[in-house]
Amino acid sequence: MDIRFDDKVVLVTGASSGIGEATAKMFAESGATVVLAARREELLKKITDDIKKSGHKASYFVCDVTDEEQVKKMIDQIDHDYGKLDFAFNNAGIMPDDVETADVALSEFDRVINVNLRSVFISMKYELKEMLKQGEKIERAIVNCSSIGGLIGMPGRSAYHASKHAVTGLTKSSALEYATRHIRINAVCPATIETPMVDRMKKSGAITDVIEPIGRVGRPEEVGSAVLWLCSDGASYVTGQSIAVDGGYTIQ
Ligand code: NAI
Repeated sequence: MDIRFDDKVVLVTGASSGIGEATAKMFAESGATVVLAARREELLKKITDDIKKSGHKASYFVCDVTDEEQVKKMIDQIDHDYGKLDFAFNNAGIMPDDVETADVALSEFDRVINVNLRSVFISMKYELKEMLKQGEKIERAIVNCSSIGGLIGMPGRSAYHASKHAVTGLTKSSALEYATRHIRINAVCPATIETPMVDRMKKSGAITDVIEPIGRVGRPEEVGSAVLWLCSDGASYVTGQSIAVDGGYTIQ
């Protein structure tokens, strides 16, 4: 992509695999300093080392984004190391097994909401505090990872879709709050993207066919492109949107 983010500092959560890993690499290739966050240190270290070996700027922070203290420490570390945060991609998430609503254990519903929604709220809370410290003259952006599950329903997916619909609500209301303060907040809503998450769904039988009108599943970089664009000046008049990156799935 022909977008430059030289001198920008970006946080990507869930950066140890899939969409987060690909997007972190794309931000780094565009000149940004990228902070990769997830729980698995070995993976994070390898990806960060690879980015640095390619001549780009990156660091990592081991963080369970459901833990408020850990998220706060991570943002404090970013403030200490770089003195600012320009963009954040709140991407960490999980996909539970397909189960009909009456059979979903409450503990499982809570787990999904905790990782897919509560963690996005916690991340935004501390990212916004850091961004607001920089004053109002710089353009900043947050992109949350929702899903086509944040736009439509699907049998067996009530907990996941509830969490992802809530991410679009969080995105809309917070976007209104900060619209005049130069912080744009949007979400991406991918359909099936080739990642370890989807590999697991194929193995469990949750995905059997290609359902996207475009005739193939998506690549992580195709979500990354949307995220980079939403952070760029090209999207300077776009806020509060939940943009489908779905090969046409939600237009049917
Ligand atoms: P993935 O399983 O490859 O990556 C998920 C990442 O989130 C991993 O780095 C994982 O370690 C991290 N993570 C999970 N829980 C965490 C926690 N508590 N704290 C910190 N990190 C945590 O999955 P994928 O496919 O890359 O998913 C990324 C996002 O995209 C998720 O929010 C997912 O719901 C969403 N999505 C994915 C789609 C797909 O087809 N792959 C479709 C629609 C949405």
